[in-house]
Amino acid sequence: MSRILITSALPYINGIKHLGTLAGSMLPADVYARFQRGRGRETLYICATDEHGTPTELAAAEAGLDPATFCANAHAVQADLGARFGLSWDHFGRSSSPQNHLQTQMFARQLWEGGFLEERVTQQVYSRADRRFLPDRYVIGTCPHCGYESARGDQCENCTRVLDPADLLHPRSAVSGSTDIEIRDSKHLFLRQSLFSDRLREGIEARKGRWPLLVTSIALKWLDEGLQDRGITRDLDWGVPVNAADWGPNPEGRTPDVEGLAGKVFYVWFDAPIEYISATAEWADARAGGKAADADWERWWRQPVADDVTYVQFMGKDNVPFHTVGFPCTLMGVNEGANAPWKLVDELKGFNWLDYYGGRFSTSQNRGVFMDQALELLPPDYWRWWIVANAPETSDATFVWEQFQAQVNADLADVLGNFVNRILKFTETRFEGVVPAGGVDGPLELKLRADVQAKLVELTGFMEAREFRKSSAALRQLWVLGNQYLTEAAPWTALKTDPERAGVAVRTGLNLVALFARVAEPFIPFTAKVIGESVGVGVGPGLWPDPDRALELLTPGQTVKAPEVLFRKIEDTQVAEWRERFGGPEVIPA
Ligand code: 2FM
Ligand code: ZN
Repeated sequence: MSRILITSALPYINGIKHLGTLAGSMLPADVYARFQRGRGRETLYICATDEHGTPTELAAAEAGLDPATFCANAHAVQADLGARFGLSWDHFGRSSSPQNHLQTQMFARQLWEGGFLEERVTQQVYSRADRRFLPDRYVIGTCPHCGYESARGDQCENCTRVLDPADLLHPRSAVSGSTDIEIRDSKHLFLRQSLFSDRLREGIEARKGRWPLLVTSIALKWLDEGLQDRGITRDLDWGVPVNAADWGPNPEGRTPDVEGLAGKVFYVWFDAPIEYISATAEWADARAGGKAADADWERWWRQPVADDVTYVQFMGKDNVPFHTVGFPCTLMGVNEGANAPWKLVDELKGFNWLDYYGGRFSTSQNRGVFMDQALELLPPDYWRWWIVANAPETSDATFVWEQFQAQVNADLADVLGNFVNRILKFTETRFEGVVPAGGVDGPLELKLRADVQAKLVELTGFMEAREFRKSSAALRQLWVLGNQYLTEAAPWTALKTDPERAGVAVRTGLNLVALFARVAEPFIPFTAKVIGESVGVGVGPGLWPDPDRALELLTPGQTVKAPEVLFRKIEDTQVAEWRERFGGPEVIPA
């Protein structure tokens, strides 16, 4: 049986994540991880905060903290929110960890020694007032094409032309507004991505039809535009230091310019994906209560020991280029000539955007619902269910309060909650809270068994294929089958004339409750656990049901107990209040 390695794109350390981030990576990855554990597969789900880069330095300064303290605090907040949303990371690491420093520096050295890095002198904007180099987007000025006065150094927002900071008229620092800026020469390392262009294209072509079209088309578009070598170092303080002193010569016999590279760090997009690997080492170290043997975590990443691992990545569409081009180039370079090559991605699930009333959720503009706010309003399973059922798989999806209310009330309260409540309450009042014994299946039960089996096979197939909308629909259909059965079998009527028949219907209904708990676990784990407890069955690892025995989960004679209300309906007054608080259709940006 294959092992499953799962990573979801690393959330930036900066700020609490909104529902869009949850929808595009972390939540579907969690649903998939829970499903695979349910199937009994050895599964490792790794995530971490993405901590380096200029925005972190600036946010820390704004908070009056040094970046390390700022990141430690923000990491704790994100870890807590993730746990409260039920994100079942095996490890939620940090890209600033000592393990990632080591791994990033080791990869860079190997890339240099393999001839995949090149030194180039580049022109960078330096702000004397801020005493720092400014990344392109932190330089602001007048667009030479359209005259827009707040154009960023990388692109003009007004006319969308791509710019170079040197193009701007009256350039100034976005950090302080100072115009005391100059262009300075600065040496940097470039990853020779262009060398891998053909191999990357071959790999992507081979995945067409298997990976989502969204993913292969974004990757091919990048390759079609011609793969540029990419600068992988920056003039910053907060990051993984380049530290080239111990690098050997490259294939041309040249050693790096240690002095020229001193004081630089790696670009955040170079070290962040490497953290997928390093976080696995963090996970093993944490389990070992100190430093784990390398073999303990390398078994997930290095071939041939990792040959039985299927590596699945989850991410939003903006991250696709870095995962189909950037990170694979790092690994292919490092792997050249290595006797234990690092594993590359097998399956890549990319998502479109989840919007808020047709406009983008935005951290910088505080638009939409953020993870902490969401949990103030409703328990996590409401959000989890809606987001997964509306996953932005084939196109962008949009969050609208009224539709959220309607769907959650219908699926969770009316269909699932009502079913569980109806049958358990009836068992308590009429069967003393005991699963009835005796009686034999009639035509209704035989039909139900066949229908449930077929639907469960379908659901399992969709889950294996990471088709989240289809999976949610199949799960909902299972719940509907249960409701239909109960209405037709009507044990409350049968009880008057044929108690044994009523007993069969109740036993079948209670088995459906147990089944629903187990199959709902990846989607709504908190409620699934409560439902399972009500009929005395566990949910989770190893307990995804076998379609052939889907309705034989309970033992006649065992006791059951109706749970408290599982899902309270969302009221119109709540929706009105929330729309007022978070904004409604009027938030759609022009
Ligand atoms: O777009 C983002 O939110 C990035 N922080 C994702 C990084 S994914 C990985 F490569 F680390
Ligand atoms: Zn312009």
